Amino acid sequence: MTDTDPGKTATSDPIRFRPARQTDGAALWRLVKATGQLELNSAYFYLLFASDFGDTCLVAERDGEVVGAVIGYHPPRQADTAFVWQIGVLPALRGQGLGQRLLDRWLALPANRACRWVTATVDEDNRASRALFGGFARRHGAECTVSPLFMPEQFPNPHPAEPLLRIGPIDRKAGSRAEASRQDRQRRELAAQDAS
Ligand SMILES: CC(C)(COP(=O)(O)OP(=O)(O)OC[C@H]1O[C@@H](n2cnc3c(N)ncnc32)[C@H](O)[C@@H]1OP(=O)(O)O)[C@@H](O)C(=O)NCCC(=O)NCCS
Repeated sequence: MTDTDPGKTATSDPIRFRPARQTDGAALWRLVKATGQLELNSAYFYLLFASDFGDTCLVAERDGEVVGAVIGYHPPRQADTAFVWQIGVLPALRGQGLGQRLLDRWLALPANRACRWVTATVDEDNRASRALFGGFARRHGAECTVSPLFMPEQFPNPHPAEPLLRIGPIDRKAGSRAEASRQDRQRRELAAQDAS
């Protein structure tokens, strides 16, 4: 995905999606901090991630500000899998479908095109995140299974369990149909706003 292609779906769509660049590290750190719920790692970590794994990370910008992001990578021993390590949307923009759009656009990144499975670890109390991944699986005609991965006793500090969500196999055609219908809905909403 480039800065000029379908990242921008409608002329009045204020959100722009693009893969992360090396210079996004600090903005990713700030976004994760601003979510208030994600575990904040060191700034150095985000700088490194944006540099070395930028192709598998997606940022959503509004007026030049990073308002959402997916930080992901390909687990080295699972060539057909893309892992969502962190996904976040600024609190003021939640509940408006941005999380769904981020995941769909992230899956459509050139680097993720060959992936048939998406994995993530999600605390079972995180209802928004569970709903987000459940909806993502449905849109892509895929199953979402949950299995134990990291247990609290494996962490050196108090930490809830991090079960593994595994979504797949991904049906790319179902995803394209869902995106076309979302764009159609958005066009109709924008036209209705213009008319009122
Ligand atoms: C999780 C998060 C990224 C979702 O972003 P969002 O833009 O609010 O998500 P959307 O508006 O696209 O909603 C996605 C789905 O979650 C549901 N949802 C959103 N907020 C919810 C909430 N607080 N409780 C329950 N369901 C919720 C929506 O109804 C939607 O469901 P659907 O696909 O069945 O229609 C956002 O809440 C966030 O940044 N949370 C803090 C960081 C975090 O917890 N990240 C996940 C860690 S793995």
